[in-house]
Amino acid sequence: MTDKYFKSLNYSLANEDTWPEVRLMREWKPKKILSVAGSGGRSLPLLAGNPAELSVVDLSEQQLWLGSLREETIRKLTHEDFLLFWGYPPFDSAAYNRKRKDLFFQFDLEPSAKNYFITLFESLSWGSILYEGKWEKTFRKFSYVTRAIMGPKLLMESLSCLSTEEQEKFYVDKFPRSRWDLVFKILGNASVFNALLYKGHFVKKNVPESHFDYYKSAFDRIFTNTLLRGNYFAQLCFFGKIVTKEAIPVEGDNEVFTAMKIWLNKNRTHAYQGNILEIIPREPAISEIDFLSFSDVPSYFEGETEKNYLQIVKPKMAIGGVVIVRNYLRIPENTDLNGYEDITGEVARYFKNENIQMYIIRAYRRKS
Ligand SMILES: C[S@@+](CC[C@H](N)C(=O)[O-])C[C@H]1O[C@@H](n2cnc3c(N)ncnc32)[C@H](O)[C@@H]1O
Repeated sequence: MTDKYFKSLNYSLANEDTWPEVRLMREWKPKKILSVAGSGGRSLPLLAGNPAELSVVDLSEQQLWLGSLREETIRKLTHEDFLLFWGYPPFDSAAYNRKRKDLFFQFDLEPSAKNYFITLFESLSWGSILYEGKWEKTFRKFSYVTRAIMGPKLLMESLSCLSTEEQEKFYVDKFPRSRWDLVFKILGNASVFNALLYKGHFVKKNVPESHFDYYKSAFDRIFTNTLLRGNYFAQLCFFGKIVTKEAIPVEGDNEVFTAMKIWLNKNRTHAYQGNILEIIPREPAISEIDFLSFSDVPSYFEGETEKNYLQIVKPKMAIGGVVIVRNYLRIPENTDLNGYEDITGEVARYFKNENIQMYIIRAYRRKS
């Protein structure tokens, strides 16, 4: 298992774009949702479909604390102060640090979470913690390399394209192939990720293509399926931060924010710390899940676990309930799909223009 890697603050922004799920939630309106927490930025937008229940699970206590901080910022702040608190553009300068500190002290957080964040914010002079996860810090480091190779001017220019057609032309005409390849040669390999981020706990790849080809074709899709001016992940890779308002992730969308706020002012989420495959079968309060958002957790499974993970959660899934998995570099092998139908084809169009383009989406519906 990869518990060692996951037990700390690894994700502070969102390593997944949850817009596709938000659109699905608005249509499907599942009653009971269970989601891997991550930064909270991947799980809380699932409230957009106004469920009866949202449970979040994470191995890491710090991720759950971050989720509870996000909940408080949504519950207590206006949309503008929410953007300011998290340091989204245009509120990304030190000019907002004092206000951020004032806002923080109105939140109700459990004492250990509160102390943790006070220490973290103090260390940043109350600057934003949006890029303080290890994952975000790694991509920030990558962005220095990308800018050094490609030049900041060219990367900034890529944000001025207004359509994917214009962007594709820009990519073909203006992006020097050899320099672009060099970025992936230097950054797109397991040893760099292991050295900088996963400390030996990186996914054990089983997709046939090389790391270079995997990342390179993901970026080709980023250029053809998404607009860089609206893509927070591309901007993180190029500039180490979000530079345009259009790229603020789904949690910052006014309508999604309002839906989350209304829900959180009436309800509480249920948070569980631990391994999702132990928590789901063990917790009596978890039952009849209509929507299970697994993140790319299954890509870290091996052996019996990758075979059986869907069977382990099945008794707690409602009939008709859907599991969404974002495979990353590894597709779980020989997974027992007994009692499920693969509905990947049904949801594929929702994921076509998601921001990251690294994930191989799979969706399974419990049928018996
Ligand atoms: C799987 S990570 C996202 C990984 C990211 N795409 C990557 O590969 O670096 C998302 C969240 O899942 C949590 N997590 C990882 N394995 C877990 C498990 N077995 N049970 C519960 N949460 C888990 C992590 O702590 C993290 O907050």
